[in-house]
Amino acid sequence: MDLFEYQARDIFAKHDVPVLAGEVIETPEAAREVTERLGGRAVVKAQVKVGGRGKAGGVKLASDPDDAVAKAGSILGMDIKGHTVHKVMLAQTADIAEEYYASFLLDRTNRTFLAMASVEGGVDIEEVAATKPEALAKIPVDAVDGVTEAKAREIAEAAKFPAEVVDQVVAALQKLWDVFVKEDALLVEVNPLVKTGDGKIVALDGKVSLDANAEFRQPDHAALEDKAAADPLEAAAKAKNLNYVKLEGQVGIIGNGAGLVMSTLDVVAYAGEKHSGVKPANFLDIGGGASAEVMANGLEIILGDPDVRSVFVNVFGGITSCDAVANGIVQALELLKSKGEDVNKPLVVRLDGNNAELGRQILNDAAHPLVQQVDTMDGAADKAAELAAAK
Ligand SMILES: Nc1ncnc2c1ncn2[C@@H]1O[C@H](COP(=O)(O)OP(=O)(O)OP(=O)(O)O)[C@@H](O)[C@H]1O
Ligand SMILES: [Mg+2]
Repeated sequence: MDLFEYQARDIFAKHDVPVLAGEVIETPEAAREVTERLGGRAVVKAQVKVGGRGKAGGVKLASDPDDAVAKAGSILGMDIKGHTVHKVMLAQTADIAEEYYASFLLDRTNRTFLAMASVEGGVDIEEVAATKPEALAKIPVDAVDGVTEAKAREIAEAAKFPAEVVDQVVAALQKLWDVFVKEDALLVEVNPLVKTGDGKIVALDGKVSLDANAEFRQPDHAALEDKAAADPLEAAAKAKNLNYVKLEGQVGIIGNGAGLVMSTLDVVAYAGEKHSGVKPANFLDIGGGASAEVMANGLEIILGDPDVRSVFVNVFGGITSCDAVANGIVQALELLKSKGEDVNKPLVVRLDGNNAELGRQILNDAAHPLVQQVDTMDGAADKAAELAAAK
């Protein structure tokens, strides 16, 4: 989960990373009081989860409270790379002498953590990385050892931080590593990390991405979720503990096991090429259990997606046998009907594996008008794509 800058700022403050005062608002008028509190001047910053806000006109200096109201008014509602600005942060203004860059991230390719730092920070760091890679120090960080003072010093030296700020940078890097570890982050980035006119190191902008797999031990993180931006279907699926990801296509997908569902997406996308280019509408793994209730929950989410025109249920019976899944499908359709849900999209079911014959028999006996069976995965994908294209 990516955080907004103001949330990153709060987390930095919690772990003693030096930051400036800042407050987030949603209406222009609210800027007046906040700017007065911040000392009469403020930087008005669009809060969107996308980079390059400054260049897009989403970061502006306001010289007084009236100006802050005007600037907030011009930034709120702005579109930055497809993200509408619903909130702005007003931050205390910094007297910037130099702009640096620092980050920690999970380096999947090298199976380690990585520190990156540069004395050429600011809005053009991407360009520095591309054209002057030697100006961006990259130091692996061992997961067990972490960022000790010695490691932080190694990073600061590799990036050639000026001697007069090294101690402060070393301290800041250790605090940022605290953020990374204690908050279970996948990315902690500060750009710019600045030296102020009076020689202080301050984090002026923060980007933090939290590891959703650590939610169970980070009870505070749920409150950081941007509920307004969450896809309503994904939110509903999450509430039902389903592994669901909304995609852009028209063929609803249900399968048991993440690997099977991934390959189902592939075969449906492939089959779709022959049928008006229809694509998978979602990823949904109902897991091993696949009880009637889980099946009903899954179907309810998928049938609730207005983009879906057909559904492909692809099940390989293992520990949960196909007859149990078939009963699950039959009961799920009854359950949805009894709840008054309008089930009106064709379902293509492919059952294979443990007790497949019995499962197919159960579906045949139920003879639900919307359900048809195809024995092979490719054949079923083709049928589901054809039905989606025909609608
Ligand atoms: N509180 C502040 N006081 C003074 N100047 C600031 C302040 N915050 C940001 N700036 C200036 O604005 C520039 C852009 O700000 P910031 O880094 O927050 O946005 P950005 O880099 O354009 O956005 P993103 O990080 O999303 O790409 C900074 O490099 C800095 O020069
Ligand atoms: Mg920035």
